[in-house]
Amino acid sequence: MTPSKTIALSVLGASATILALTATLATAASPAATAIATRHANFKKMGGAMKVLKDQLTSGTIAKPQAVAAARTLAAMGRVQPKLFPAGSGPSSGVKTDALPAIWTDRAAFDGKWKDYTTQADKLLAAANTGDAAPIGAQFKALGGTCGACHKQFRADK
Ligand code: HEC
Repeated sequence: MTPSKTIALSVLGASATILALTATLATAASPAATAIATRHANFKKMGGAMKVLKDQLTSGTIAKPQAVAAARTLAAMGRVQPKLFPAGSGPSSGVKTDALPAIWTDRAAFDGKWKDYTTQADKLLAAANTGDAAPIGAQFKALGGTCGACHKQFRADK
């Protein structure tokens, strides 16, 4: 067999494996379980991004590219996370979650908290782009306040 044919065949083989895996995952996990797993992974990314900024602020040395990347992650999550709380992905789903039922009975308030979060995250990104510790520190606090405000009202494990 010519090398190019071998490569073409192994690419086909790999995509068939990926298709098979995707099909398995889609049947194994309910939409609620998938949403919960995805939002948990994203919250961990948000925690990681906050830690990057906190460590820089504590050390007193801002590494601008990393600070901007962390702030970008945080701002992007404000757009992604609200969609990962579909109806039926609360405690009644039977999947382990700390999301309180109030998210779905008081959806406007929950979405309002995400709006506050995103406003502050966008400001944090602007601050990160200055590379200057003082505005980054102030916005880090402001954003952290919006994490806490939402957790207080909508998360079981505060
Ligand atoms: C608008 C509401 C809201 C905002 C804003 C918010 N969170 Fe949360 N957070 C939640 C809810 C609800 C849960 C529980 C989710 C679940 O268990 O399904 C949670 C869970 C978490 C978890 C635990 C994830 C896990 O694997 O169990 C971490 C970590 C976290 N949030 C960090 C943050 C950080 C850091 C911020 C701010 C940068 C933030 N959150 C902002 C609502 C919010």
